[in-house]
Amino acid sequence: MRVRVRVPATSANLGPGFDVLGLALALHNEMDFEESEGVAVSIEGEGAGRLATGADNVVVKGARMAFQAAGRPWRGVRLRCVNRIPPSRGLGSSAAAWVGGLVGGNALCGAPLDRDALLTLAARAEGHPDNVTAALLGGLTVSCWAGDRVAAASLPVPADLSWVVLVPEAEGSTAEARAALPEGYSRADAVFNLQRVSLLVAALATGRSDLLGVAMEDRLHQPYRAKLFPWLAGVILAAVRAGALACALSGAGPSVLAVAQGPGEGVGRAMEEALRRAGLAGRALALATDTTGARVEQAAGQGAPET
Ligand code: HSE
Repeated sequence: MRVRVRVPATSANLGPGFDVLGLALALHNEMDFEESEGVAVSIEGEGAGRLATGADNVVVKGARMAFQAAGRPWRGVRLRCVNRIPPSRGLGSSAAAWVGGLVGGNALCGAPLDRDALLTLAARAEGHPDNVTAALLGGLTVSCWAGDRVAAASLPVPADLSWVVLVPEAEGSTAEARAALPEGYSRADAVFNLQRVSLLVAALATGRSDLLGVAMEDRLHQPYRAKLFPWLAGVILAAVRAGALACALSGAGPSVLAVAQGPGEGVGRAMEEALRRAGLAGRALALATDTTGARVEQAAGQGAPET
């Protein structure tokens, strides 16, 4: 049995929604799975030559986890990955690997696990639910732990908004970026973020893009992480001056996410230029929203696609 899975990149937080909001972006990793005796992995594109190609490959671990959860014996998998999501940049490459592995493994088993079960397994593996929820469901997602399960919903994003992602030529460590955060916050900062994350969801749901500049401000993570990325304030300023409605660190960084009305021409160039002035190279990508999330695509000789 063979299946092909396509999983989107994701940007978490969108400013104030730390560990809550996720956005699926139209930049995909593709994975072909075939049951086999033992594990064989080939990787093309991003991370080739660096990512693990044995049983410790994260996609393989996800597939194996699906087999275990389904109560099916695990023999191994032949896996071919075509990666387009840059790793360690705050664009959900690790979430895509867990979700892709779980969805592919589930499909090989005949899809006994439903989406909620896959989501909970992925969030447990990743450690926080925001990226894996967006990777699995697509769109703009809101997620939280509810006991030992994840409660989540996906919202459509206004079609006239475009996302510009600046990807620096430098990797970030999520663990380091989480370690930079304080243990606690003042009530004023908690209220500041509650107001903004609620406003952000309401603004996107009602098409009030004029509110995004305020709604994407944050006091829970970005001010602390800015110390790791001293060029961040300059890039955000350049994006807004070039016409972006708002701009924030993507996940734990170092990528930066800007939102623009219409195609956002010039925003990406301005962000690249601001980064370059700070002595760092990077490329800007204009990406649409991925509205479907991870998908099982028809593989040769197989039946209809199913998530
Ligand atoms: N919400 C997580 C964080 C996302 O900001 O640490 C990590 O990609």
